[in-house]
Amino acid sequence: MPPPSTIPVTVHATPAAAARAVAAGIADCVRAGAAAGRPAVLGLAAGSTPEGVYRELGRLHAEEGLDFTGVRAFGLDEYWPIDPAAPQGFRAFLEHAFARPVGLDPDGLALPNGRTPPERLADECHRYERAIREAGGIDLQLLGIGANGHIAFNEPGSLPGSRTRLVELDEDTRRAAAGAFGGLRDVPRRALTMGVGSILEARRLVLLALGPAKAEAVRRALQEPPSPAVPASFLQEHPSAEVVLDRAAAAGLACGRPE
Ligand code: GLP
Repeated sequence: MPPPSTIPVTVHATPAAAARAVAAGIADCVRAGAAAGRPAVLGLAAGSTPEGVYRELGRLHAEEGLDFTGVRAFGLDEYWPIDPAAPQGFRAFLEHAFARPVGLDPDGLALPNGRTPPERLADECHRYERAIREAGGIDLQLLGIGANGHIAFNEPGSLPGSRTRLVELDEDTRRAAAGAFGGLRDVPRRALTMGVGSILEARRLVLLALGPAKAEAVRRALQEPPSPAVPASFLQEHPSAEVVLDRAAAAGLACGRPE
């Protein structure tokens, strides 16, 4: 039996409850930044998992006045090549699902540029890392997890020191995105992604996983020794990481703290 992870794990009865809990943590981070006169710097995931979190943040903004003035948000990754306005892209997703509902200034949202020409990719990756550093680093990084254990687009094999770079997408990852692109053929084969090492520099990490399709990846990430085979397992090496699950995503764990 592998030793249990030291990462705090919270299991919620429903996906909506898990999303609300994560949104409450992000809201606290936003309020703390405003109170300190240093607006929060958020790292954000795309994908279906965080949609409920962003909906709840939009509600907190509209109904409870949660103020995102000055907040900076950095997306984890973007397909390449892709037009930044393409609806399947992560810039369009984060604008639509997060930035507009919370009233974020359009300049407050940054992602790697999916339209970067090949000869400028290295510069673009450096530019992105520099922009995060110049913003003061990420206070809270929200993460999802792929069924193969990826975080952002760090596929199995990614090293813990990896930085923002161009990567090849696994076939499983491309298949998972096929619906959005109207078929596997049109899913880009590559993407720009923050590296595992870039992600681990955030002051706080929150991984949200929902549904039975994530249960095995969650189990391996938490209960196997950190290894490139399951990039999410490197969260175990972060001093302030937490994992938030619904019951289905927690099904493979020996134990978890129920909410
Ligand atoms: C995507 C993204 C990740 C995301 C993961 C899970 O491809 N690159 O940032 O966390 O895979 O996606 P979903 O939440 O849609 O299951």
